[in-house]
Amino acid sequence: MFTQIPKKSTPPRIRKPTIIIFSSLSIILILILIFSTNPCSQTTQILFPNFTPNYFKNTYNILYPNQETTPTNISHIVFSIASIVKTWHARKHYVESWWRPNETRGFLFLDQAPNRHLPWPPTSPRVLVSNEAMGQKDISRAIRIARGIKETFKMENTSVRWYVMADDDTVFFLENLVEVLKKYDHNGYYYVGMNSESVISNNLFSFEMGFGGAGIAFSYPLASILVKNLDVCLKRYRGSYGSDQILHSCMADLGVSLTHAKGFHQVIFVLDVTLLFYY
Ligand SMILES: *[C@@H]1O[C@H](CO)[C@@H](O)[C@H](O)[C@H]1NC(C)=O
Ligand SMILES: *[C@@H]1O[C@H](CO)[C@@H](O)[C@H](O)[C@H]1NC(C)=O
Ligand SMILES: *[C@@H]1O[C@H](CO)[C@@H](O)[C@H](O)[C@H]1NC(C)=O
Repeated sequence: MFTQIPKKSTPPRIRKPTIIIFSSLSIILILILIFSTNPCSQTTQILFPNFTPNYFKNTYNILYPNQETTPTNISHIVFSIASIVKTWHARKHYVESWWRPNETRGFLFLDQAPNRHLPWPPTSPRVLVSNEAMGQKDISRAIRIARGIKETFKMENTSVRWYVMADDDTVFFLENLVEVLKKYDHNGYYYVGMNSESVISNNLFSFEMGFGGAGIAFSYPLASILVKNLDVCLKRYRGSYGSDQILHSCMADLGVSLTHAKGFHQVIFVLDVTLLFYY
């Protein structure tokens, strides 16, 4: 009789490919730990205190060699300010409080020729009449203001990183604005602003909308896409109440959400919501 000899259970063999994969992964992990610039991984600093891995910091330059990387300053920002002739005499003091002639770039858009305000003082921004600029009459205020970004883009588009839209009673602290915008990559698609400080307004419009009274910033690439699509967008949302609401809708269509920047403040002093509709 033959008795079946039970098979010896051989210990599981580690196959060659597994070893290769495992050791490659370990090497990669070690390299990451050594060269990572992430503050959580300080191995580099411990192993080579004088080593600064510049090539990692400059990956951006390698990917986009033609992009500027100098710090953003006031010269990179172009403003588009909306006003009307009727109230300009009172509102100009808000604008002139922060506007720096020959330094700040941008335009003031009025609904009519400012005949009664002539001669135009050099302390005010350059003025454009929106209706004339667009060859249209009797368009809604919201659409007129929203189109300001297109007019502005057409006139000023060299060395621009940010387009900032504002009302005639918006007051900017320019250094602060530059500091805030500096934090974002102006080569990316950024829609920067803040919702209202009034919950009622946010409920009426959106918590995700940049309110125009506080100023809204669009990065250059985003503005260039926005102006290309603006006419279609204005047609689609022509029933919207405000220019900021229209622009928010255009942003939503482009898939860009608001980057909330807490330095932008839109204030409504009186809680009566109807006041909102007079601004
Ligand atoms: C702003 O930065 C640019 C470089 O991007 C530089 O040429 C210019 O002189 C700077 N302007 C001011 C006002 O600092
Ligand atoms: C702006 O610059 C021009 C010359 O380029 C000068 O004549 C004018 O006085 C300046 N304006 C102000 C308000 O500094
Ligand atoms: C950029 O600005 C110039 C005028 O400075 C204008 O001729 C040109 O059409 C503008 N480009 C776009 C895409 O609007």
